[in-house]
Amino acid sequence: MFDSGDFSETPLWYKDAIIYELHVKTFFDKNGDGIGDFKGLTEKLDYLESLGVNAIWLLPFFPSPLKDDGYDISDYYDIHPHYGNMRDFKNFLREAHHRGMKVIIELVLNHTSDQHKWFQRARKKDAPKKWRDFYVWSDKPDNYLDARIIFQDFETSNWTRDPENEKFFWHRFYSHQPDLNYDNPEVQKEIFKIIDFWMKMGVDGMRLDAVPYLFEREGTNCENLPESIDFLKKLRAHVDRYYQNRMILAEANQWPEDAILYFGNGDACHMAFHFPLMPRMFMALRMEDRFPIIDILEQTPPIPDNCQWALFLRNHDELTLEMVTDEERDYMYRVYARDKAARINLGIRRRLAPLLENHRRKMEIMKFLLLSLPGTPTLYYGDEIAMGDNHFLGDRDGVRTPMQWSADRNAGFSRANPQKLYLPVTIDPEYHYETVNVENQEQNQTSFLWWVKRVIAMRKNFKAFGRGTIEFLHPDNPKILAFLRKYQDEIILVVINLSRFSQVVELDLSPYAGYTPVEVFSKNPFPVIQEKPYIMTLGFHTYFWFVLKKEVVASPEKKVREISLLKSKSDWIELFSSQLKTKIESMILPQFLMEQRW
Ligand code: BGC
Repeated sequence: MFDSGDFSETPLWYKDAIIYELHVKTFFDKNGDGIGDFKGLTEKLDYLESLGVNAIWLLPFFPSPLKDDGYDISDYYDIHPHYGNMRDFKNFLREAHHRGMKVIIELVLNHTSDQHKWFQRARKKDAPKKWRDFYVWSDKPDNYLDARIIFQDFETSNWTRDPENEKFFWHRFYSHQPDLNYDNPEVQKEIFKIIDFWMKMGVDGMRLDAVPYLFEREGTNCENLPESIDFLKKLRAHVDRYYQNRMILAEANQWPEDAILYFGNGDACHMAFHFPLMPRMFMALRMEDRFPIIDILEQTPPIPDNCQWALFLRNHDELTLEMVTDEERDYMYRVYARDKAARINLGIRRRLAPLLENHRRKMEIMKFLLLSLPGTPTLYYGDEIAMGDNHFLGDRDGVRTPMQWSADRNAGFSRANPQKLYLPVTIDPEYHYETVNVENQEQNQTSFLWWVKRVIAMRKNFKAFGRGTIEFLHPDNPKILAFLRKYQDEIILVVINLSRFSQVVELDLSPYAGYTPVEVFSKNPFPVIQEKPYIMTLGFHTYFWFVLKKEVVASPEKKVREISLLKSKSDWIELFSSQLKTKIESMILPQFLMEQRW
């Protein structure tokens, strides 16, 4: 087990992290204006601590016209007044650090808002070249035509004509988000200045938004270009040179063989999201077949030792289906977004619970998988209480509604007039905030929230999940996903029944003949492994973590019986005489408690 002190001081902290993703506006509104703020978030740090997460990833909180939820930045050096001021942010950072939590912020480096002063001065007709060159201009929209359009529900071209200087500017996302020109060294310098500003303040990590698109080259699809990777290596060298224990995380929605480019030789990004794995977890569950998961992980090349995948189920965007085949996308739409209104661009704008039809066991399996596969899990705010969504709101706003704290007005999120909220709270009858909220779930120890807390706490007892290798087992029954995670002398066996029916499986565990699988939550030893196949019967949608122990382990019940044999010569009060009392308090009781299933 590692404690938070340990965690904070190691350069590889991101391997042991459990990341919680949130937008400050969604979390808690302290000043009652209808929008979450840093003061509110700071107040809710106790909640995050009790959940067990140890890193917070903040979506963009900078001044912005907010046409793309803050991914359209107009000033990189300040806090949007909706969310408070720099003092509030620093206070939040201090309080998070005080609790041993890391803070990861966004570095939107591919593009700015068209309201940014760089663009305002670049677009002027008589702008000197040094200003104009901050962006990518063309007289005609006929360059880089092999680049795909990402927001295909909203944009028809990656070029937009600027009415002011009558030239076209390049943008990979919305037309109000002009791409920066990385061929201009001045742009690179400005990005380094921004990094210095926030790193000096003490942020621990940065998610590098949309990194595949930094450079453009004719005749290519303008993604994953060597120039972009080289720039990231420069950026990493800069971070390593001036700061300690910091982390940069690539958002590269790419196939594994391209995504690994962002690790370099361990000298580019520390982390990168594993995009193709995410939809395949959903596919495997729905198909009741382990194949999609094993297939994509077997196609994933090994990564340098100091690097780590970031895993996720849902985030603030649509559940992207860019990294699947056409057939797989059709399948995903058919089974997870029959309602066409839930589809956007190439994806599905739904949260975890509605995607899984609010099926508790399915939600458990998906979170369990997320916490079991190799990488660092990233949890999206609200999914720990199985929040619903509202895909009738525009764009991706349906998965960005206020956090549901209680059954009070505005879900306990804000004291404002409900009409003033930045987005309405969820009142879908099935996910209504009066029922689905933190307060209710904290009071009920069988709630999904408590389940999530327990699993996170348990995972932290083992380093194998964050740091270990993975080895798949290949039993005949395809509905069972079983694999080993190993790190130093830790061996964890993960077994998951993806099926809605009970199953039997024969696992080849012969290399571990003589070992005892001990189920981690109950501490119950299962039968000792032998050379012959290990047979397990599994209820529908069940999941297990076993520690494989070299020795034969006695069942907790047996040990309890031994403890109950305390003998006293006179009456029972003698048991609490000074000598025995110390023994009971320091050895017998803690041991007894540890061995209880509860
Ligand atoms: C973010 C999106 C955003 C886009 C453009 C993505 O990587 O996750 O939310 O709209 O970048 O900035």
